[in-house]
Amino acid sequence: MNPALKDVSDLTAEQAASELARLAREIAKHDRAYYEKDAPVISDAVYDALRQRNEAIELAFPDLKREDSPSGQVGAKPSGKFSEVRHAVPMLSLGNAFTDEDVADFAARVRRFLNVPEDEAIAVTAEPKIDGLSASLRYEKGVLVSGATRGDGQTGENVTENLKTLDEIPQALTGAPDVLEVRGEVYMSHEDFAALNRAQEEAGKPAYKNPRNAAAGSLRQIDPRVTARRPLRFFAYAWGEVSEPLAETQMGAVERLAGFGFKVNPEMTRCESVEAMLDRYRAIEEKRAALGYDIDGVVYKVDRLDYQQRLGFVSRAPRWAIAHKFSPEKATTILHAIEIQVGRTGALTPVAKLEPVTVGGVVVSNATLHNEDEIARKDVRVGDTVVVQRAGDVIPQVVEVLKDKRPADAEPFAFPHVCPCPLKTPAEREVNPRTGEINAVRRCTGEFACPFQRKEHLKHFVSRKAFDIEGLGEKQIEAFYEEGVVKEPADIFTLKARDAAGELTPPIHQREGWGEKSAANLFDAIELRRTVALARFINALGIRHVGEETSRLLARTYGSWAEFRKAAEAAGEIGSEARQAVLDIDQMGETAVDAIGRFFAEDHNLAALDRLVAHVAIEDAEAVAAQSPVSGKTVVFTGALERFTRDEAKARAQSLGAKVAGSVSGKTDYLVAGPGAGSKLKKAQELGVSVLTEDEWLALITE
Ligand code: IVH
Repeated sequence: MNPALKDVSDLTAEQAASELARLAREIAKHDRAYYEKDAPVISDAVYDALRQRNEAIELAFPDLKREDSPSGQVGAKPSGKFSEVRHAVPMLSLGNAFTDEDVADFAARVRRFLNVPEDEAIAVTAEPKIDGLSASLRYEKGVLVSGATRGDGQTGENVTENLKTLDEIPQALTGAPDVLEVRGEVYMSHEDFAALNRAQEEAGKPAYKNPRNAAAGSLRQIDPRVTARRPLRFFAYAWGEVSEPLAETQMGAVERLAGFGFKVNPEMTRCESVEAMLDRYRAIEEKRAALGYDIDGVVYKVDRLDYQQRLGFVSRAPRWAIAHKFSPEKATTILHAIEIQVGRTGALTPVAKLEPVTVGGVVVSNATLHNEDEIARKDVRVGDTVVVQRAGDVIPQVVEVLKDKRPADAEPFAFPHVCPCPLKTPAEREVNPRTGEINAVRRCTGEFACPFQRKEHLKHFVSRKAFDIEGLGEKQIEAFYEEGVVKEPADIFTLKARDAAGELTPPIHQREGWGEKSAANLFDAIELRRTVALARFINALGIRHVGEETSRLLARTYGSWAEFRKAAEAAGEIGSEARQAVLDIDQMGETAVDAIGRFFAEDHNLAALDRLVAHVAIEDAEAVAAQSPVSGKTVVFTGALERFTRDEAKARAQSLGAKVAGSVSGKTDYLVAGPGAGSKLKKAQELGVSVLTEDEWLALITE
């Protein structure tokens, strides 16, 4: 078999060396195409897959790492190509719906949040989800002053001059608000894409992979004259900052944008029921091939803008919109092996190692098999021909086994009952004490004794949403851990001192992949992170069921590390008042509280924490909205609220920095009581807590 198609674990040393040589050549070629010629030949995902394969082989054969190894070369994408633009209003992403049921759930969630009775329609707009790249155009007094890509949603690239070359982007508007940010999608039609590729080929230049890449590559040209020659188009579908409202509805606002001269999507309609939404989805899906440009789903948006305002956002996506994606693309390939990976929390995840296959423009060689029950249910066997599916950004999955293609000697897969780590710790399936159900996930019981879990834990610790240490990624942690240089989080903060004291042999700068400069940069990056926000710190601990959102909630609630730790240590005492107090935090679930309790009940965790805390300064949590009159206050809602739903009231209070509790105690600052309030009201009165009507509460927060 061609070594390029072989699984890393099956390569001989000789094959590995030739693969590393091939990958070094290949990656260098694509780097030139991307950075110098601005004409990438492969998609980012395929490029990433090449680098990942290179790294995997280097990890398996460290001695074979080449002088010109691509992994040593830092700087993936050029971030300095364009200057940065901070979006006045963040550019959000959309949640996804894949099934009819997801759409019905969305509609129900919206209705519940707004508390609109069943017999009253909530209109939504439905429009194609364009597969291009989004851009934001800022007009001041009718003049286009800047244009940016989405970037990470907060900050994008300044591509003003390039955007100005698009015929479909007006440079001046009449009758527009003084400040108007128009948002939409830059894309290329099928016809223009084919013509561009013909021209590229004639000029001896590489062809673009798909219209989206062609649009992105064309927009991100250093020289706007090149962009000007590219046939880019623009659909306006949203807005950012506006000095005065455009309209009262989404449809009305989009009509105004059309009135200013923007192209808006002609397929946009208004639907008044879930059935109408689904009908529209099917109709658009049927038209898909004939539209002349790529779309990958339908976007629904609540039509009334006052509703949108009330619904607000969760994380980075609006509650008032959702993308209903078309069915994911599938491909058939051979499953060569089933590998068991161990996650940070000990979950054993079976991963299918596949004959590489292209699914929707991306080469897939790994797919998740979810868990043991899924393997048994589908009866997946090594050697099987399987159907893999890839939907958007999610990990590819094995969805079907083609039994008639099964080799005669294929045997049922025996899921291991021990962890694949060197300790071979038993791996068990927990029984949920509340439901009595057996968990689908088998977990290594070794916790911090399991070297695989510890390693994953360290990777999580340095990751972007935790300590975010630049230059210390998964690969470096992997190496430092294997070599015993970093065994626990605290070791990261003693690295520089140990290195200077000559305790590390060889010193960092003499290690594979490191030099004087990169070692010094790493030490600087670590120094920078000695001060850490409380929420990040809690998230970095990697407590099960305590992710980014919960960490933020805990940080907001407790404010300081000392207060959080006190509460966390008490959280383990079942039935205690202290535990109840943690449970009382709105949105804190019992599972998370139990996990916190367990984490803080382990002496080795506390010892590791003490060692860590000695090296870092944990910043108190800043109130969400420092200027809000209710920030830092604890509020309880009770009775039948009439002005807003319970969810809405809570979300609003939290966004203003208040803590929302479920029961009244001495710590409660306000009880907001609607009609029919009972025991909570009584208790508040006994304790002398301020009791507010809904109107009084509204007056307070809109002060
Ligand atoms: S609305 C607050 N409408 O999808 C929501 N987005 O997954 C703002 N997109 O970054 C987006 N077609 O690039 C919206 N008709 C459409 C869209 C659309 C494509 C893209 C857009 C956005 C991404 C979110």
